[in-house]
Parts: sequence; C-alpha cells; structure tokens
Amino acid sequence: MAMKQEIFNARVTFRKSPIHVLERFTLGDIENAYSSFQKHTDLQECVILQTCNRVEIFGSGTKHDIDKIKKVWASLSGLEEHAFQDNLEWSKDSDVYDHLLKLTSGLDSMVVGEEQILGQIKNSIASARSNKSSGEHLNTLFDKAIRVGTRVRNSTGISKGSISIGSMAVKLAEENVDDMKLKHILLIGTGDAAALVAKSLTKRGYQFSITSRTIERSTSFSKTIGGTPIDFNQILSGFEKYDVVFVATTAPYFLVTHERIQKALNEKNSGMMILDLSNPRTVDEKVAELSGIKLMNIDQIAEMVDKNMRSRMGQKTSAEQIIKEELTVLEASMKRLEAEPIVKDVFKNMDEIRIKELEKAMNMLGDLDPDKKKIIDDLTKSVVENIVSVPMNNLRKETEQGNSELIDTVGKLFNYKKKIDST
Ligand SMILES: NC(=O)c1ccc[n+]([C@@H]2O[C@H](COP(=O)([O-])OP(=O)(O)OC[C@H]3O[C@@H](n4cnc5c(N)ncnc54)[C@H](OP(=O)(O)O)[C@@H]3O)[C@@H](O)[C@H]2O)c1
Repeated sequence: MAMKQEIFNARVTFRKSPIHVLERFTLGDIENAYSSFQKHTDLQECVILQTCNRVEIFGSGTKHDIDKIKKVWASLSGLEEHAFQDNLEWSKDSDVYDHLLKLTSGLDSMVVGEEQILGQIKNSIASARSNKSSGEHLNTLFDKAIRVGTRVRNSTGISKGSISIGSMAVKLAEENVDDMKLKHILLIGTGDAAALVAKSLTKRGYQFSITSRTIERSTSFSKTIGGTPIDFNQILSGFEKYDVVFVATTAPYFLVTHERIQKALNEKNSGMMILDLSNPRTVDEKVAELSGIKLMNIDQIAEMVDKNMRSRMGQKTSAEQIIKEELTVLEASMKRLEAEPIVKDVFKNMDEIRIKELEKAMNMLGDLDPDKKKIIDDLTKSVVENIVSVPMNNLRKETEQGNSELIDTVGKLFNYKKKIDST
C-alpha cells in the first residue's frame, strides 16, 4: 500500500492557555528548532508559527508520533512533558486546513480580522522554505491558505473596518470618563501597543504624558508619535496627577500596584480609569476593588473590539462561508498531491522509452533533414502524451475525490510500487 501523507498541527494558543503559560512553550532559536524536529521526529516537513498569541507546529509525514513531537518541543522550551496536558491542541488533515484558513483570515485572532497574523504566517512559511524544512505538501497548503486569507479579507472587509486595540481602549475611556479633554492622561509604555493608543489619542486631539523606563525611548516616542515625556520614577512615586492611565508594557511584574493606587486616591479627590493592554498584566487586578477605580484589562478590551466588529459588519459569517467553500477546494488540491509523484514518474519513464526508441529509429533512417527529424520527434511525443495523459488525469481526479487505492493499482501496473512507498 502506498503510504498516505498526513498533515498535522500541534498548537498551544491563547484560546487554552493564558499568555504567561503560553510563553513557556516558545521554541527559542527557530533554526535549531527546525533541525531538532527534523532529526528526532517522523515529520518529513515542518513549519513553525510563533507569535505572542500562539506557538504552532505544522507537519507532514506518512506517520506521526505525538510523543516524539512533545519530547522535542519540551526539550527546546525546557519544559516537562506533562506541561502539555492542559495546553496542547492537536489536529489532522482537513481540521488542519480549516484551522489554517481561519488563521490566515484572522478568524482565530484575539482581535478578529487583524492583519498582523497574515504577515506572520507569510514569514513562517518563507523561513521554513529557506531552511528547507517545508516541502511540496506544506508549501502548497500555506500558499493556498494565504491566498484564501487574502481573498476573505478583500471580499468581506473583515479587516478594513477593524478597530485597533489602541483605538478601542481610547473609545472605552471616552465612554467611561466625562469630559476626557479636561482630564490628565498618562500612557505607560513606548512599544507597539502603546503606539496604537498614542496614535488614537493624538487623532482625537487629546494631550497626554508618556513614560518609559528609558527616558530616551519616551523622548523619541513623543517626537514621532506624540505626548509629553515624563520621568518614569516620578510616575511610580505618584499617580495622583492622572485621571486616565493606559498601560502597555512587557514588564514581568505589576507596575501599577494596589498600594500605589491607594496612595494616589488618598491624595486626589476624584476617581481614575485604568486600561491595561498588557498581557501578562502590568496592573494588579486588585486595584479594581478600590472605590473610584474603573479598571479594564486586555481581555475585556479585545472582547469589545470583537463585539464591535461583529455588530458593525456581520462579516464573520460571510468569512466563514468563504472558508467553507475554499476548504473543499483545498482538500481536493491536497489529495491530488498524493498522485503527483507517480504521475511525474510515469511521464518521465515514458519519455525515456520514447527517446531511446527514437534514437534507434533515427540511426536506422540515417541522414534526415532537420524538418523531417522534427516531424518524427513530434509524432513520438504526441503518441506518448495522448496515451498516458488520459489515465494519469483519471488518476488525479480519483485521488482528488479521496480514492487513493487507484495509486496502488497504477503503482502495480507501472512497477512503481517501491518508489511511492519510499517517498
Ligand atoms: N503589539 C500589539 O499589537 C499588542 C496587542 C495587544 C496587547 N499587547 C500587549 O501589550 C504589551 C506591550 O506589547 P508591545 O507589543 O507594545 O511590546 P514592545 O513593543 O516590546 O514594548 C514593550 C514596552 O514595555 C516596556 N517595558 C519592558 N519591560 C519593562 C519593565 N520591566 N518595566 C517597565 N516597562 C517595561 C518597554 O519600555 P522600556 O524598554 O523603556 O522599559 C516598552 O515600552 C504586551 O504585554 C503585549 O502582550 C500588544
């Protein structure tokens, strides 16, 4: 029996694992990860996708052993194998195609429709290609999924109207705070997430203070994106000057503590709204228990973005519809790949026979002018093609429909059995 190629996906994502847990599953040096998976698992092809919301391994091979994959993954991330128990999701063939189509379309993102993931997937397959760790199966799958993702985005507008996490945070502040223009606004953090907040604040005409551990970062941030730079330690010693605080840092501990906010509240006679975009949190959730404090965290902000998206455009359903149609097409293309090695071999072998016989005949015919030679050459080509192409196209069609037994039969007929087994 020809061994069927299977496509697998193993993933740890924000859906099952909080970000601080997810972070422990990251694979470190990607090139090293590729070579370890190739050496120590049965995967013949491999693509790694690693973003701040997911770590995913796509693989292709005639057999798979999840334990081997977990073992390599665990050793790369410095984890015990039992860490996978509550966090790992695992799927095969059509379920993988469906998952990847949802990923490229932005349907599996925290903020539905966000654009970043499509670029991240493009980078992943490009780096797998240059590492030669992906091959015909995963290259086909990713190329098609990227095309579908682009189609979904272009024809549904799922990304176009999508509101960024930054502008949603500002919108939520406006909804919860009266007279925002008169309030003192602080932004802690000078990275990508902070930039999204700053752009939205500037666009809506709000003045704000910007702070980062490194004063140079706040100064250059203020020049390029906006805000007035403030010394970080000065902020930490007193939040009382501020009414609205946006926080977006990768600090591994709480910067905005219960104690600091309690102190600020004692010194001012009004409340505060705090919006924490960080994951893991930079603001201690206990702060929300203080009276006069309204706290929103990243999950709540992302949920609002998602709701807003759906109610405004109802695009998710049409995106899902396109994915459903495209999934059938993709399944057929992936199945068809199974027939390709034997089809290629049959054509190659027939052509070798043709050339051998042609040379014999040409030798017997002696000197012929080039025009006549060409007529005979073309004749042999068209005879071979006409005879072989019908059965080969039938083989492709049958394989597309999932009838892979025919591959074995053709293998037997053409003596190719051994060759398919070893690919
Ligand atoms: N990027 C996004 O689109 C996005 C979307 C949703 C949520 N988030 C979340 O937002 C947070 C920030 O992400 P990002 O993409 O903006 O990261 P980033 O571009 O790497 O920026 C990190 C920021 O954190 C600050 N920082 C790092 N360690 C710190 C510490 N120990 N104390 C104080 N500040 C520290 C850095 O400033 P200094 O170097 O000056 O300390 C910098 O301003 C993350 O938790 C992320 O999960 C990001």
